[in-house]
Amino acid sequence: MDKKQSVPIIAANWKMYKTLSETEQFITQIKPLIAKAKARVLVAVPFTSLKTAVDLAKDTNLIIGAQNMNDASEGAFTGEIAAKMLTDVGAKFVLIGHSERRQYFNESNAFINRKVKRALESNLQPLLCIGETLKERESGEMEDVLATQLSESLQDVETSSLKNVIIAYEPVWAIGTGISATADMAQQAHHFCREYLAQHWGAEVAGTMPLLYGGSVKPNTAAELLGQSDINGLLVGGASLDATSFAAIVNAG
Ligand code: PGA
Repeated sequence: MDKKQSVPIIAANWKMYKTLSETEQFITQIKPLIAKAKARVLVAVPFTSLKTAVDLAKDTNLIIGAQNMNDASEGAFTGEIAAKMLTDVGAKFVLIGHSERRQYFNESNAFINRKVKRALESNLQPLLCIGETLKERESGEMEDVLATQLSESLQDVETSSLKNVIIAYEPVWAIGTGISATADMAQQAHHFCREYLAQHWGAEVAGTMPLLYGGSVKPNTAAELLGQSDINGLLVGGASLDATSFAAIVNAG
């Protein structure tokens, strides 16, 4: 991706945090702080906060999305949420395959692949998360893991739809641990993903697909990460819960 022409994407993942009043407070507080940001700012809120967040984000540069969805269009799946329910409340994107979903809810690449396809056909932008565990990195399997996650999660997705997919590389060992990958480590993994995308889907797809880094991003690490040639944005968990710290990351972009 030609970084000179592309706008960085800074995405927040609130996970299972924030009630309605906390959602309201955050949006009110961050609005003026990011009014001049050049980044595209995404916030993945809990399902219960979606409608409120969408309403409050009108006339701001915040884009609201969800953290998960089911692969079926609708049906008898107690407790699940369908893509059309998300678009109906105004969600524009959805996180898919976050490592916490893979780890605690046993989500497979095949299931993730079905969700990516359902999101795309529902006009919901998928933000697909991939990343290796510490054990996989230490045993030299990082590239194999990333390649498998990419190929299986994007299997049979129309090439024309791939331009709507965002990828987030989030090494599992860096998520919520305070141990961020160094800018070099992140760049190396991103470069591998970029090359892999080019080999399998062509230079155009590889050149235009945004690749975000996630894992313990903080205001003081954002600029260096964003300065790497294959890093097009950031996915931020912990540091996105506080409006001031998330605004600082947004404004680093
Ligand atoms: P973290 O989370 O920034 O708290 O490490 C990132 C994520 O899980 O997306």
